[in-house]
Amino acid sequence: MGGTIDVMSVDTGDIKRLLAYYQALGFDALPISLQAINNLMSDAHAEARGVNRKSLLEELRVHIGDCQRCKLAKHRANLVFGAGNPYARLMFIGEAPGKEEDLQGLPFVGDAGMLLTRLIIKMGMKREDVYIANIIKCRPPMNRDPEEDELSTCRKFIEKQIQIIRPQIIMTLGRIALQALMERPNLRITSARGRFLDYRGIPLMPTFHPAYLLRNPKDKILTWADAQKVMARIAPITSG
Ligand code: URA
Ligand code: URA
Repeated sequence: MGGTIDVMSVDTGDIKRLLAYYQALGFDALPISLQAINNLMSDAHAEARGVNRKSLLEELRVHIGDCQRCKLAKHRANLVFGAGNPYARLMFIGEAPGKEEDLQGLPFVGDAGMLLTRLIIKMGMKREDVYIANIIKCRPPMNRDPEEDELSTCRKFIEKQIQIIRPQIIMTLGRIALQALMERPNLRITSARGRFLDYRGIPLMPTFHPAYLLRNPKDKILTWADAQKVMARIAPITSG
């Protein structure tokens, strides 16, 4: 946070849309953080300069390059950057690529991915409408949990992706994504899921990982409940 705000440079259209959004949510005061205003403004500035999110993502991908920043590099077939709509309202964030993702270079294309795709469709969207990425861009050997040095090396890239895409809502999938993104290693997925958290001004809904749901199908109903809260929160804008 911090820094001064040059209020004169804010696009009034953006402010109006923001106010309408909060009004639609039922607020009559403005529950907005300085961070959220800053985010909105850097967005408006970038778009005003003709910088679009697609090319910013492409630039980031080029910057990451043939990454050798951590020890996962030597095991991977492909780096999995992320995929989807650069203007997505909803962003899903998982843990790390698995075998199939590593082979294809795309996120959530294995069995867990099929379940995620079904969830997205059930939510009334398509995979192309949302953006899907992981905290960690390269597959850990034998799908082990990412290690501290790998997380600390890679997390700046998902942070940057969020900053570029600026989704209205983030859904984290599983414990690792939740803890890593929130930088709260003591958060427990079972108690944290289902309630919105704040990630730098963006509502973040933690839910279970689809791979966990494949092993524990009885908990699918909980993730569906979480997804419905997300849908209720994006609905006013979707219809507007
Ligand atoms: N699990 C994840 O966390 N991410 C993927 O992309 C695939 C499986
Ligand atoms: N444990 C995890 O790591 N993720 C889940 O989604 C559920 C339990």
